[in-house]
Amino acid sequence: MENKKYYITTPIYYPSANFHIGHCYTTIIADAIARYKRLNGYDTFFLTGSDEHGQKIEKKANEAGVTPQEYVDKIITDAKDLWSSLGISYDKFIRTTDEKHCIAVQKIFKKLYDQGDIYKGEYKGLYCTPCESFWTESQLVDGKCPDCGRDVEEAHEEAYFFRLSKYQDRLVEYIESHPEFIQPVSRKNEMINNFIKPGLDDLCVSRTSFKWGIPVPFDDKHVIYVWLDALTNYITALGYTSENDDNFKKYWPANLHIVGKEIVRFHTIIWPIMLMALDLPLPEQVFGHGWLVIDGGKISKSLGNYKDPREYINDYGKDAVRYFVLREVPFGNDGAFSEESLINRTNADLANVLGNLVNRTISMNKKYFDNVVVNSDATLEIDEILISSVLSAKEKIEKYMDELKIPEALDEIFEIFRKCNKYIDETTPWILAKDENKDRLKKVIYNLLESIRIGAVLLSPYLPDTSKEIFRQLNTSETSFDSIDTFGKLKVGDVLNEPSPLFLRIDKEKLS
Ligand code: ME8
Ligand code: MG
Repeated sequence: MENKKYYITTPIYYPSANFHIGHCYTTIIADAIARYKRLNGYDTFFLTGSDEHGQKIEKKANEAGVTPQEYVDKIITDAKDLWSSLGISYDKFIRTTDEKHCIAVQKIFKKLYDQGDIYKGEYKGLYCTPCESFWTESQLVDGKCPDCGRDVEEAHEEAYFFRLSKYQDRLVEYIESHPEFIQPVSRKNEMINNFIKPGLDDLCVSRTSFKWGIPVPFDDKHVIYVWLDALTNYITALGYTSENDDNFKKYWPANLHIVGKEIVRFHTIIWPIMLMALDLPLPEQVFGHGWLVIDGGKISKSLGNYKDPREYINDYGKDAVRYFVLREVPFGNDGAFSEESLINRTNADLANVLGNLVNRTISMNKKYFDNVVVNSDATLEIDEILISSVLSAKEKIEKYMDELKIPEALDEIFEIFRKCNKYIDETTPWILAKDENKDRLKKVIYNLLESIRIGAVLLSPYLPDTSKEIFRQLNTSETSFDSIDTFGKLKVGDVLNEPSPLFLRIDKEKLS
């Protein structure tokens, strides 16, 4: 039998006090994919979390007069609240400060050291003394420290290095022979030509200039620095190296790491090499998505375009925010975010197409049949056309989702709703209602209700609350993926709940 497990991850986020809509982008997409896989019968594990060590956090905590642990705890509590307000259905939230993670990272570090893949050397860089930070040439701003703007000087410190260079050829061979590994393809070419082919330098994996990190187990002057601590979360979260590694055995290798385009490099060079060194299988796919941009640029407090994502959720609703992010941006490209386009999308698709359809249909059923589900044999060709197109949507959506084409999948679902609206216009139930014999009217309303049910099942991974509300109004428990292979699951005689609008049109005047 086919192994129906699915392991999907987001990056682990830096605990920043300003989580913005761009951070929500990755997480909402991962959530929709995870929910889709669950609906499709996969035993799914969806991981997200936070990347909590490093000098920046140590400094911010100092400035705030709290310990680094207190500092990150507060932010992570808030981040979890944000994810819950967006309906993010993660199975585990890993924190790199979790004791289990720290122990596992130390074991991994030791193993790599013992087998000669990590060695002690000297780190050379440009050092800002007041900030106690090393920078590379390219990180400098006008030749000065990017944090404080002061002069930097060449300096060196003792550090441990990970032998990336040793695995370079194996990595190229792997990438070339696994075309699905790096997606989209443009990112694969960039990795090979710009980063790997010119030659890999060994990677510095420890620091002595700050304390907020996992100590090197046999040399506690050093803390393990960034990528070895961060990337390993994907396996430590499953219990790798711990007594209980059932999840590791069940879910590794990952099916999909979703990451922003700027960290594809770390996930497709450093991470696979670490796994090779640990003699573990590599993830099936790393997908590098683009950024959400506002006015063509970054989202940040200092640029004045930052809003807490919860403000959008409060103003427009959780599913409106989810829908915008999932529908508007072709996966892989950058996409423009603005409140105006969020409103336009919500009004056009959610209020006009879907909201109207559901409300009209359930209201007609109330008016003509007292909320009772009815049906008849009075079928015409127009019905068969509608039904066959509704039934064929599932397969198309499965194909789109296999390629992570989420906007296309959503458009296919909305095509069902648009066709239903057209079907209402063409069958004119209000005229059928005048007939003595109500068979034709019964058939038309039944077809609409059942098409809405099928559409709502397909929609449930993307807009879970909306689907739930549709199921509630339809008073149905036929919500499984299998249930939509059959047209006719709503039972004659069942009583629907009262109609109530799913989405109200948003008045653009509200925009300040
Ligand atoms: O990079 N649009 O963390 P991070 C879309 N800790 N995505 C965005 C975005 C935007 N405007 N801004 C940020 C890190 N992101 C590391 C990862 S993984 C082992 C360690 C995305 O908090 C960004 O592209 O800086 C990245 O994928 C994610 O948010 C976390 O970014
Ligand atoms: Mg970043």
